[in-house]
This record gives sequence, structure tokens and C-alpha cells, in this order.
Amino acid sequence: MKISIFAPATIANFSVGFDSLGVALSDIEGSLFGDVVTIEPALETTMHITGSFAHKLPTNPIDNLVVKCSHLFHKQLSERGAPHKKFTLTLEKRMPIGSGLGSSSASVSAALVALNHFYGHPFSDKELLLFAGEMEGAVSGSIHYDNVAPCLFGGLQLIMSDTATCVSLPFFEDWFLVLYHPGIEVPTENARAILPHSLPRTGSIIYWQKLACFIHASHIKDSKLAAQQMHDVLIEPYRATLIPHFDEGREAAMKAGALAFGISGSGPTCFAITESIDAAHLVRDAIVGAMHGTDESFSKICTISKTGARVV
Ligand code: HSE
Repeated sequence: MKISIFAPATIANFSVGFDSLGVALSDIEGSLFGDVVTIEPALETTMHITGSFAHKLPTNPIDNLVVKCSHLFHKQLSERGAPHKKFTLTLEKRMPIGSGLGSSSASVSAALVALNHFYGHPFSDKELLLFAGEMEGAVSGSIHYDNVAPCLFGGLQLIMSDTATCVSLPFFEDWFLVLYHPGIEVPTENARAILPHSLPRTGSIIYWQKLACFIHASHIKDSKLAAQQMHDVLIEPYRATLIPHFDEGREAAMKAGALAFGISGSGPTCFAITESIDAAHLVRDAIVGAMHGTDESFSKICTISKTGARVV
């Protein structure tokens, strides 16, 4: 049976939770903002790539993440003594790469969920999360779950490192997330390499206080208090240097009424939060005017998606 799985774009870190928080996104215009993987039985296993960003991916299938996912999946099946099947796997690459929007996570999550469906669900959600984290590690040089967790499960996810699991936090359904991609690529590996091995003490203390307060605010449903925490004083100063006109973008967004402004994942996409669609449009215009992106820049207004990877 043929099946297609969509996996959404995500914002990792969410300003206050480096490698620890992430949200799944839903485009308010209803487009599938993420990647789609389709799997169907075949006599020989083949892999195809389509979609508006297909040309950005490696041409050698061996280097493709979705192929790597199927190898990992089969390795795990073999460890259980389960037989392999043949299939056609098609990745519809709908997201830009090196964008800070969880592009690799969307491909990985869609592929793993599609394979799990195809094989009759041999693996649990937790196992899929672990496999997806391993794939993220292969892409960025270090395992982190803050894109793959919301991508697989939706909503706002908090990562618990000792057990490599995640919990769903209450999130603000009336928040609009204004995204601005400046049209340049910043590989996650580079954005991680720019960070020092040790982080300053004062900034670290402020940072964990903000994360704790944000989580408290999410539980007591105080959206103003939550948004007030969302200024990353620890990681952002290093990464902002990779994003042209970042400071102008923040100034313009806040002046236009944003509740918060920050870097999506490892960038270069930036995001702002508003509580009304009218404010979202004003903030979007302000950011576009201030950040002077390339011809490949784009903006989008999203809400937080309750759902993660799913059949479409
Ligand atoms: N937490 C990761 C980072 C997300 O900021 O490097 C990027 O995939």
C-alpha cells in the first residue's frame, strides 16, 4: 500500500531552551510547510527526490538523508531478526536547507515514520525519536532532539537529556509566529562551531532562569510572562553575527509590536511572536523592510501545530 507522511517545519531552541525546546509549525495559509515522504512496495528499492528544494540536495543518493534513514531503519530491523522489504521511497523536498527551520529533521522524521508505517509499526515513538536524533547527529555533528521531537510529535516539546525523551508542554494557541528567512544558508554545523566550549556564567544564570520562568508561564497560561522571557542572552549574540541586519530586524519587529524576536534554531531564519494576525502582518512588513534579504528570502506566518508527522 502506498502511504505519504508529512513532517512539519520546526523552531528549535525557541530562544530560551538551547537544544532543549522546540515547536512544530503550521502555515496559517494551509500549505504543507515541511517535507513529505511517500513509500510504496516495489520489486527493487529505489529513491527519488522531487519538490521545490530538490536541487539543493546531494545528487548521489548515498549521501541523501532519507537513504541514510532507510539504512538505519534496516539495521535496527536486522538486529530484531526481521526481514527487509523492497520499496520506492520519494522525498518531496519542500523546505530550504540550512535554514534553521528543521529541514533535515522534517526529511528524517517523515522518512522514519513512513518506514515504520510500511513495516507495520515495529518501533515505538521513543525508538523513532532516538533514531531521528542519531540522524540529526550525523548531519550537524552532535545529537540534539529539539527539532525532531516537535517534528515527530507536534506542539511544544521539552527534551529530557538523561532519558532522551521529551514531554509536551502547554503552548499558546493564540500566538502567531512570524518567520523571516533572509535567503542565505547557514549549516547547523557552522552555527554550532561558532559557539565557545564554555559559556559565560552571568549569561548562563540568566538563561536558565528564563527557561524555568518560561516553563512556569506555559503551565499557568501567562503568555505575556512567557514572551518576556524569550530573549536569548547566551547563544544569540554569537549566532547573530551570521545573520545580516539581525539587530535591525529585532528593533523593527519590537517597534512594530512583536512580543519577542529571536533566531529559529541555528538560523538564519528569525522569528517574532504576536498575539493577533493584524500585528503579525505589521511585524512581518517591518522585518522584511529592515533585514534586506537576498532574492531567495521569504516570510511566512505560522501558528504552533498540535500535530507532528502524519499521514497526508
Ligand atoms: N538546537 C540546535 C542548535 C538546533 O541550535 O544548534 C539546530 O538544529
